[in-house]
Amino acid sequence: RTDGTTDYYKITARPGLAHLVPGHDTEVWGYQGMFPGPTIESRSGRRTVVTHRNELPHPTVVHLHGGHTPHESDGYPMDQTAPLGGGTGGPGASSMAGMAGMDPAAVQRERVYDYPMNQRAATLWYHDHTMGFTGPHVYRGLAGFHLVRDDEEASLGLPHGPRELPLMIADRSFAADGSFACPALDASEVKPGVQAAYMNGVLGDVILVNGAPWPVAPVDRARYRLRILNASNARRYRLELDPQPPGGGGLLQIGSDGGLLERPVAHDAIELAPAERFDLVVDFARYPVGSSVRLVNRLGSGGTAEVMRFDISSASVSDDSRAPGGTLAKVEKLDPAKAVAARTFVFQKSQDNWTINGQDYKPGRSLAMPKLGQVEIWRFVTDFHHPVHLHLDPFQVVSRNAAAPGAFDAGWKDTVDVLPAQGVEVAVRFTDYAGRFLLHCHNLEHEDMAMMAEFTTA
Ligand code: C2O
Ligand code: CU
Ligand code: CU
Repeated sequence: RTDGTTDYYKITARPGLAHLVPGHDTEVWGYQGMFPGPTIESRSGRRTVVTHRNELPHPTVVHLHGGHTPHESDGYPMDQTAPLGGGTGGPGASSMAGMAGMDPAAVQRERVYDYPMNQRAATLWYHDHTMGFTGPHVYRGLAGFHLVRDDEEASLGLPHGPRELPLMIADRSFAADGSFACPALDASEVKPGVQAAYMNGVLGDVILVNGAPWPVAPVDRARYRLRILNASNARRYRLELDPQPPGGGGLLQIGSDGGLLERPVAHDAIELAPAERFDLVVDFARYPVGSSVRLVNRLGSGGTAEVMRFDISSASVSDDSRAPGGTLAKVEKLDPAKAVAARTFVFQKSQDNWTINGQDYKPGRSLAMPKLGQVEIWRFVTDFHHPVHLHLDPFQVVSRNAAAPGAFDAGWKDTVDVLPAQGVEVAVRFTDYAGRFLLHCHNLEHEDMAMMAEFTTA
């Protein structure tokens, strides 16, 4: 539904059946029972209101990743929506109220998320953010795209309609009966010992694109816009086209997490940590008529090397898109010299958990109190591999190991891939909304194992 100022959506999280492997149904927990969930589209500056209903046997929370959103609608891990028919067996309504320290009478089964959408065009996604259960919930399917469009982007004449493909990449393992092998992840019976086995994160051995293993997309000899999201719990990818087009540079990056780059960057390969997005233009006219091109993962082994295939049609077609070149967008540069504070966050393992500055996540405890409207430098230091994510506002990478930002750090980011024993500095400026927001590792097992912290803006 839509009216003069607002777009309205109603989405229900419920179990559903998906046909992912031949001969079997897989039960997913999905938005509208689907994996991925339905794609939401917003216009920049136009409010979007999403009523989320929970018909799962577990409490849920929804977060709009990359959204510039007030605290009340940000998907705070304790702002849980109760399961339908909860109360007996498993964490139903009453036990959930206990879990969250809530008054049972105040438990809701629906929650209205109100998004102002005062932000630029970008590839956002929405996913579960329930305290302690984000990993298993997302693994079961609670994730979908939320695309934001604006005039600046529309003026570029990018490939659109059937030539714009949002691609959600996620790895899963399957049991013999076709169900998701969700290790240690029956959230109703999480055992600490079992969890410890997945300390480094849950990896699957099959790569799914938009919920399908190794799909084949028939494409025209024309430019396509591929909006790639790594929605995996813990897996990193290095993606490239095989074969490369003559002359290379087949993956033309036009945008990152926070929307369009100032200028396009041609890559032979891109690296994505969990939650990162790459907005790409690929020109299939650079390939011969009737040929096939694979999108492959060079960090994988076995089945994880295969991602998807494009079969190029032999029909001659017209391409009404424009080749991206020159300046794509105005990108404001945050000036690190204007920073009023510098803060360091150390991401490291403790005995049986993952911590930030030596602390396990505790709701209500803030590790930083940044002032709205002011630039700060945040420095992330790691032991292991951690994709570090901030809520509320995007940031710009200033340095990596005291040197220049890396090849995949361009533009506005909300998640930065920090490699083992690295230090990454970002410039960030929080705006508009005072309140509590999150800083966490987007390896979802690390997140669930306490590698999350709050900051309070004022
Ligand atoms: Cu995509 Cu706080 O997460
Ligand atoms: Cu987020
Ligand atoms: Cu981590």
